[in-house]
Amino acid sequence: MTKMSSRKIAVGGRAKARAPKTSLLIGADKLTEQQAKAEHEWLTGELKKHSDAYYAKDAPTISDAEYDALRSRYRQVEERFPELVDLFSESYQVGASPARGFKKVRHAIPMLSLENAFAENDVVEFVNGIRRFLKLDGQEIDFSAEPKIDGLSMSLRYEGGELVTAATRGDGAEGEDVTANIRTLEDVPQKLRGRNIPDICEVRGEVYMTKKAFLALNERQEAAGDTIFANPRNSAAGSLRQKDPTITASRPLGFFAYAWGEMSAMPKGTQSGMIDWFERCGFKTNPLTKLCHSVEELIAFHHSIEEERSELDYDIDGVVYKVDRIDWQERLGFVSRRPRWAVAHKFPAERAMTVLRDIEIQVGRTGSFTPVGKLEPVGVGGVIVQNVTLHNEDYIRGIGNKGEVLREGRDIRIGDTVVIQRAGDVIPQVVDVIIDKRPKSAKEFHLPKKCPCPLHTDVVRGATAAGEEESRSRCTGEFACPYQKIEHLKLFVSRRAFDIDGLGEKQLQYFFDEGFVKEPADIFTLEKRNSKLKLEEIEGYGETSVRNLFGAIESRRKIALERFIYALGMRHVGETTGLALARGYGSWDAFHDASLKVAKGDEEAIAEMDALDQIGDTVIKSIADYFGESHNRGIVERLTKEVEIVDAEKPKSNSAVAGKTVVFTGSLEKMTRDEAKATAERLGAKVSGSVSKKTDLVVAGPGAGSKLAEANKHGVKVLTEDEWLTLIGE
Ligand code: IVH
Repeated sequence: MTKMSSRKIAVGGRAKARAPKTSLLIGADKLTEQQAKAEHEWLTGELKKHSDAYYAKDAPTISDAEYDALRSRYRQVEERFPELVDLFSESYQVGASPARGFKKVRHAIPMLSLENAFAENDVVEFVNGIRRFLKLDGQEIDFSAEPKIDGLSMSLRYEGGELVTAATRGDGAEGEDVTANIRTLEDVPQKLRGRNIPDICEVRGEVYMTKKAFLALNERQEAAGDTIFANPRNSAAGSLRQKDPTITASRPLGFFAYAWGEMSAMPKGTQSGMIDWFERCGFKTNPLTKLCHSVEELIAFHHSIEEERSELDYDIDGVVYKVDRIDWQERLGFVSRRPRWAVAHKFPAERAMTVLRDIEIQVGRTGSFTPVGKLEPVGVGGVIVQNVTLHNEDYIRGIGNKGEVLREGRDIRIGDTVVIQRAGDVIPQVVDVIIDKRPKSAKEFHLPKKCPCPLHTDVVRGATAAGEEESRSRCTGEFACPYQKIEHLKLFVSRRAFDIDGLGEKQLQYFFDEGFVKEPADIFTLEKRNSKLKLEEIEGYGETSVRNLFGAIESRRKIALERFIYALGMRHVGETTGLALARGYGSWDAFHDASLKVAKGDEEAIAEMDALDQIGDTVIKSIADYFGESHNRGIVERLTKEVEIVDAEKPKSNSAVAGKTVVFTGSLEKMTRDEAKATAERLGAKVSGSVSKKTDLVVAGPGAGSKLAEANKHGVKVLTEDEWLTLIGE
């Protein structure tokens, strides 16, 4: 993050900072302990106040120079008396997310990510899958092959040809409004050029910083004593997430257009046509983009771009292949929030060699143990890596999840020299062990038999929905295990769940240790209880911070259903599953009722949940386990009294089949079963595998048997494939 000192604007209406009477004129090295303490306390309050005014309220009250002077004095005092650095010290707050003050924007069409391919065979499979899905035999498929820019994706909304909003990707459903900053980019037209521009156009693409600009920026940052960015992507992000657009304007950011969101009319019918159209509207598009006609051409494109990679002045981490015909893209649709019609063919990850100093155990939210390797710090792809996940005990022994042999069976020992790999944002992995370098003192690692939590519970290996033993070990303390509770609270306040600013991990841990917050609902009653808790009296935690914290909590009382479900922290219910459940049930009451029934083993409720897209046995078992436990039901009940849960948007509710439960049976001739399911879901229907009285429609092809008989028994409407296609207008 860039500190306040790089602001170039003048600030009006200043409130002069007043120092305590006692010690201002004394050099920090001459302060007595008592004077230092008083001054530190005062400085903490001042810095917090001004930093909040700047970041959260966007209304600075002192100049940069004054702020810097306060910061510098504060550092000197802390250097002289390090014991003054406490949990809430401003030192921890420096680098607080500058994104705090940004408004959230809900994307009209979610911003999704891509499936990754690493091996050439994955690309062959990608193309074959498309052929099978679309039932294409020898027919040629054109692909738009494009470099995968390593920047930040951005959605630009134009209404009547004028730029109205620019939003980051965020969690895909909701991003941050960075319109003012984006307006400073030369590559982004304020007004679209040309005639017949559709009334609504959402142009999507990547904001990036050139390597040259990144190096120059870091030089300037270093000279000014400011934050050094790890790579061009981080510096692009840091430059964009500024409350002050003049800072963004001073950073050379570029933009390549390559995709779209909501469009009131489609100007072209192909990806390549759209890219040309973006150019005509005034955008830059990537000059290396190429139309390919076969797998061989795609792979040759990958090779040639990889060779060119180091010469390019911007970072790329692979190439992207997209089916060119947009009508085919629409037929192919999405699976698990990734398009079936596109794939990212990544470049091999970067590797480095270092020494594994130790292995520690991390107890997760659901009690599972993750051995974490502590490394001799090493730079990989511009980032310093010190920790590496070692997954589980089997992985350390050289055995994979499915029992396969890893690293040719080489185990990992403390003291070993290991090869680590980092691919994009993925957590670094150990890919090999150099046995020749193994010292005699290298130590084998054994998981503890007891949980390191204060309960010292027995450790067991988990089981999957199918009853198979998992490779993960877990603490059996469940709700009594403080490690699990705190991990859940961390997830609860995190950006993708309740997103509560000012309640970072350190603060949360402190509130938890003090017993102020024992479960999620307690966060929302903090303010009510504060006459007793008196948070403002905690050292270094002044009235302003407490007020801001309460403000942040208050602003999050209203939450989207998918975020709420995710925030409950059920095993196997991540963001994607949370969204699928939210879309499937629509409201909290419907989801809650269904989950309670599922927990009681109600077969109809289980079948209904099973029929939802992306929901299978593992998730259902986890939901049943969660709601089957009275302690959890209590947590949920107390929490729902404190918050307002907003219903999920049902997809395409205006289609003829929206909200209907449909069963496909028999063989289909004009589409594959997968395609039929995907289309029905895209139109808002629920596709079920079995017929019951709740089924609205059965689409029966030749050879339909028992399901057709069931439909007739329950009086469910039966359609032929053609009748179905007419109904949905395809
Ligand atoms: S297409 C529905 N094309 O990669 C998919 N993405 O891993 C829309 N990216 O979030 C994305 N270059 O930030 C697409 N030529 C390109 C890209 C590209 C970079 C990024 C983008 C996206 C991520 C997906």
